[in-house]
Amino acid sequence: MTNTKSNAMWGGRFAAGPDAIMEAINASIRFDQRMAAQDIEGSRAHAAMLAATGIITDSDSEVIREGLLTVLSEIEAGNFAFSTALEDIHMNVESRLKEIVGEPAGRLHTARSRNDQVATDFKLWVRGQMDAVITGIEALIKALMAQAEAGADWVMPGFTHLQTAQPVTWGHHMMAYVEMLGRDLSRFKDARARMNESPLGAAALAGTSFPIDRHMTAEALGFDRPAANSLDAVADRDFALEFLSSASICAMHLSRFAEELVIWSSAQFRFVVLSDRFSTGSSIMPQKKNPDAAELIRAKIGRIMGAMVGLFTVMKGLPLTYSKDMQEDKEQVFDAADSLMLALAAMTGMVSDMTANRESLEVAAASGFSTATDLADWLVRALNMPFRDAHHVTGSLVALAESKGCDLPELTLADMQSVHSEITAAVFDVLGVHNSVNSRQSYGGTAPDQVRAQVARWKEILA
Ligand code: ARG
Repeated sequence: MTNTKSNAMWGGRFAAGPDAIMEAINASIRFDQRMAAQDIEGSRAHAAMLAATGIITDSDSEVIREGLLTVLSEIEAGNFAFSTALEDIHMNVESRLKEIVGEPAGRLHTARSRNDQVATDFKLWVRGQMDAVITGIEALIKALMAQAEAGADWVMPGFTHLQTAQPVTWGHHMMAYVEMLGRDLSRFKDARARMNESPLGAAALAGTSFPIDRHMTAEALGFDRPAANSLDAVADRDFALEFLSSASICAMHLSRFAEELVIWSSAQFRFVVLSDRFSTGSSIMPQKKNPDAAELIRAKIGRIMGAMVGLFTVMKGLPLTYSKDMQEDKEQVFDAADSLMLALAAMTGMVSDMTANRESLEVAAASGFSTATDLADWLVRALNMPFRDAHHVTGSLVALAESKGCDLPELTLADMQSVHSEITAAVFDVLGVHNSVNSRQSYGGTAPDQVRAQVARWKEILA
């Protein structure tokens, strides 16, 4: 009955094998071989459960479980001949298992379908990436905290509209990214907890008439529980979408910081010096030292968010349950995961290696009338002026300084009094950048003490 050309796994009713183009569009082995370890882990758990529930014999189960380890070691050693005719990782593994152990291999697929199998493999893979990303984010947070601790009281300009706004501290700026990455951490942890339900045993879509134990396989695979609805279990790709959404937000954060590093390392800013290890040269301009890693991190959001939009577009409008469209879920997730992991590692390396140029930061912090708000606040406090009036008086003083080509601290007391007669020499105390940042003691403010408190808080969180 069986036709040698038709598929050995499902070709019973087929008289002819697939067209070469059909095989090309249908096969996923080129990319889903990345889930080999997860596939074998899932199959081993399934085989153990089939024996524990008396569906297959203990000896068949043992032979299958041992044989699967052999297949895994062949794949890990690079000695495995992946076959496009066998479509995907699931059938490649099972077919090789049959070659190794013979008849018992044919019992492995009892009470299971590739639909719950692929959902299980992919979940295990994505869950592993979530764990890796979480570790990667924590490493970057630690690198930022080291910068923040070293420079808790270094002053730099704080910007709005990329115009000098108020002096801030280097540590404060570093800790701003720690907060963003902290939210990224919580998003990945949250998504991981929500996705950790096992699809295995949902079978094709409806469950199975065999007396399986889904709790047993769920536990063996580190899931918190079996997914409660078999239709949902095989149709759900929310976990991949949540991974991609969280990855997109994280990549957006990295992109913003990367952009700052590009600006800061320029000859015009000179706020930071990036290490040679994380810079490149130009083939024509000998003086150049380019922040390529930062630029590439700035760009990674493109493909990561592209993957997210891509998978949303694949999933939208799909009727329950499994449709082959869903095979298009993996490559984008693989690529996004690789891109995010690399971006995190490169950013961690850059941050650990970079040197802040304290002098440039301090000079820049004092320029651009950065303490004008401190002057206005002083008028409110010392002269009991309404803030709106103080804002106006300060504006006039800025205009005066600008016309004299100097900064606010260089105005004389007479200059000051020409704008408002009640101003006293005490005003000069608040015009220095260090006084300015030291005064911003409000919770979460830029004062060095507040920065140190933020660092201490994060040390506790990460401990
Ligand atoms: N290679 C398939 C995928 O990645 C596996 C599931 C196939 N299931 C099926 N009923 N054809 O989605």
